[in-house]
Amino acid sequence: MRRPLLAGNWKMNTSLTEGVDLVEALIEQLGAVTDHEIVVCPPFTVLGALAPLLAGTSVQLGAQNMFYAANGAYTGEISPLMLREIGCVYVILGHSERRQYFGEDDALINRKALAALEHGLRPIVCVGEVKAERDSGRAEEVVVQQLRGSLQNIKPEQMQNLVVAYEPVWAIGTGDTATPADAQSMHATIRHTLAELSDAATAQTIRIQYGGSVKADNVDELMAQPDIDGALVGGASLKASDFVRIVRFQ
Ligand code: 13P
Repeated sequence: MRRPLLAGNWKMNTSLTEGVDLVEALIEQLGAVTDHEIVVCPPFTVLGALAPLLAGTSVQLGAQNMFYAANGAYTGEISPLMLREIGCVYVILGHSERRQYFGEDDALINRKALAALEHGLRPIVCVGEVKAERDSGRAEEVVVQQLRGSLQNIKPEQMQNLVVAYEPVWAIGTGDTATPADAQSMHATIRHTLAELSDAATAQTIRIQYGGSVKADNVDELMAQPDIDGALVGGASLKASDFVRIVRFQ
């Protein structure tokens, strides 16, 4: 019913040639994976080189961030129109590293999500608690608040183009992953909140990805959970053979 969505977030890694080499290896090793949707999100500087390589393959292009305005005096920013023009289908928004290092808050992420949808991009909106919040039993409260803040005013008919990525901050890049049961429990809470923000039927169509130390050896049990519809993969997406194994989860 919900088509699994496996996305690689390369973060601030790969030169132009490294990015091209990685995607060429990925395409070669992937073969035909028809029932899963696959996305790579390289740095901005690499997007343009990958677009022609990905045309006609089962791998789609995504960006890691964008600004909400279509154009104008916003030095250093990239607009949704620019991402569309270069061939992006998806855009990651509100990643915890953007929240932590660049001061992004739910209100800003909300403006970006609305702009992405308006311009025909599919936003992957990231939410997730830090360790202290989980340890104090506040994880669900924090995630629900992030969802309510960052998904305001999205029309129900636009909701199905949205993806939510649950990335517990303590699991990112640490090798410490949420247990499948804990991840499932949070994903069910997220789906319940999405139903409140739209309606139950729409919430059933929205993909919710898990992210945070997803690897070849834990992807199968995570993907076996009923409300885990995909993965947002950092480190393990930088090696073609690892990402291919993740994409081919069983
Ligand atoms: P890692 O897979 O390296 O833990 O990163 C997860 C992530 O932040 C994906 O957006």
